[in-house]
Amino acid sequence: MDEDERLKGAELSFSKTMASDAYQSPRGTRDLLPEELVRVRFLEETARDLARTFHYQEIRTPLFEETRLFSRSLGETSDVVDKEMFTVPPRVEGSLSYSFRPEGTAPAARAYVQGGCPASAPYQKWFYLGPMFRYERPQKGRERQFTQFGVEAFGANSPSLDAEVVDFALRFFEELGFGAELEVRVNTMGDPEDRERWKGQLHDYFKPGLSERCSDCQSRIERNPFRLLDCKVAQCQKLNEGAPSLRSELAEESAAHHAKFVATLEALGRTPKDDPGIVRGLDYYTRTVFEIHYPPLGARSALCGGGRYDGLVEEVGGTPTPAVGFAIGFTATEIAMAELGLPKPEALEPFQRDLQTQVYCVAVSEEDRLATTQLASQLRAARVQGVDLDYRNKSVKAQLKEAAKSGARVVALIGPDERAASCVCLRNMRTRDEKQVPESDLLTELLALLEE
Ligand code: HAM
Repeated sequence: MDEDERLKGAELSFSKTMASDAYQSPRGTRDLLPEELVRVRFLEETARDLARTFHYQEIRTPLFEETRLFSRSLGETSDVVDKEMFTVPPRVEGSLSYSFRPEGTAPAARAYVQGGCPASAPYQKWFYLGPMFRYERPQKGRERQFTQFGVEAFGANSPSLDAEVVDFALRFFEELGFGAELEVRVNTMGDPEDRERWKGQLHDYFKPGLSERCSDCQSRIERNPFRLLDCKVAQCQKLNEGAPSLRSELAEESAAHHAKFVATLEALGRTPKDDPGIVRGLDYYTRTVFEIHYPPLGARSALCGGGRYDGLVEEVGGTPTPAVGFAIGFTATEIAMAELGLPKPEALEPFQRDLQTQVYCVAVSEEDRLATTQLASQLRAARVQGVDLDYRNKSVKAQLKEAAKSGARVVALIGPDERAASCVCLRNMRTRDEKQVPESDLLTELLALLEE
């Protein structure tokens, strides 16, 4: 019995005994097996490639941080801190509480300060790519572990940098194959003093109709009335129509910043849509905020969110440093791409190629196995890609079948005759042509076949 048959038997008896207690990945998470990873790798490579173009350098921060880093910077009343953190409470009294990172901006700001950047090199353009964790109700486009591609640019307050960041995010989607389906919605959150005045106005405006609003709005009004503007409940959204706008409270400088940001974006050929409803769910934003939406996804249509956060570095212990960035969520991006039939198949080809066997080494008899193993090792040392062979005691016929099934382009076969003559039989799996090749010419002949 070869290994395949043995495993099939074992699988059959396992599924008979297997009941509902089989292990599952946690709710809101998913495994990415090799085939599924092809699309994600395409997104990741596109991100890295563009980061090089825009000249942003990669950073990696821990997957968990002190809980208070997030509660202070994102805000106690933000949904993320209030309801969605994966938190490990202090293990002994007086020790620290940690949380899996729900986002990457606060960790980047912490790393910027801890790395001494404010004094040594305040202008930094960084990107990160990795998992974030939010204890949300899993639904279309929302997961409990999801990937973000984020960029953070520290040390410059120019509105042109805000425009660069938005242009970067849009370029990412264009590289994936998106056309005009996406909408970039922009707004300004002003400076803290502007917001303080606006906060009072919003509070007074919302208070009378509060009983008609959802319970979230009712609990948020005192602590953070901006969040009422961001409510996704239809009835509350209706009640928001006509709410006072921050625009009338903007100081001259932040109004000028916004105008220059929008004008620069337009000069870059972009068509931002001014949307005073974009208030973002995190407290650290100042001035520019923006989101990129794929409208068919509905309320949860944001593929990307970002903005300026000029107070955050100081908040986490550094000297005042302006900064701006974005994060793109891969989950919603993947859904939008699937709906649009993206990416084009040829974009995935290089990643699919990595999954394919290129050369399958076949041993005719048991005595030829060692020579076949040595051959595979020799090809791998020469960095031939996708070299494989049988370890499951398959007959020569079954090995050839396996080679065909794997999609191998070339079979390299060794039998007693080949060993005696110090050569290898190369079979082109497409044309079925075979040829005995002396060991000395093996690599050249094989590479030529792979290039055909
Ligand atoms: P955010 O808007 O909270 O911003 O998240 C950015 C994107 O991450 C969202 O537009 C969405 O696509 C994705 N996302 C968020 N939560 C989930 C989830 N539970 N499941 C799947 N995708 C999700 C931030 O995180 C800020 N740090 C962005 C930023 C960077 N601002 C300045 N720099």
